[in-house]
Amino acid sequence: MKQRILMVCLGNICRSPLAEGLLRHHLQLQGKDHIEVDSAGTSDYHVGEQPDTRTIQNAATHKVDISSLRARQFHAADFESFDRIFVMDASNYQNVSLVSKNTEQMAKVDFLLNVLWENENRAVPDPYFGGPDGFEQVFQLVNKACEVLAAKL
Ligand code: 4NP
Repeated sequence: MKQRILMVCLGNICRSPLAEGLLRHHLQLQGKDHIEVDSAGTSDYHVGEQPDTRTIQNAATHKVDISSLRARQFHAADFESFDRIFVMDASNYQNVSLVSKNTEQMAKVDFLLNVLWENENRAVPDPYFGGPDGFEQVFQLVNKACEVLAAKL
């Protein structure tokens, strides 16, 4: 059966679309492009929008194009459609748990950075209200996590 992975943040315009694009990128490099990747936000703030211009531009400097992605909201059916759900921070985890029906569904959910630092529940910091350095820091963290995750899938 086809594996399906979902990346989740708050707005689905900064961190999770980047994670979607980077996981897809590393899966392609590793010859695993049969695995499906998507992303969603726990909020409806930016539904239908492109990723944040700063995220698109930062990714483009690393030769990754995420400009065709569009934001959508996380919904309960995602627990059925996806095998694994990766959140960026504790607030995303809390928001996803509020939509979940049972512990079996929450067993699919993990912090993305636990791929690099097991059980530490480290956050990919929200770059939205900060400066350009934040976007590069997010890129470095998410890129490393997605490269390692792709190898494990
Ligand atoms: P993201 O960043 O969760 O990484 O997409 C944010 C985007 C928008 C907002 C917050 C975080 N916002 O408050 O509009």
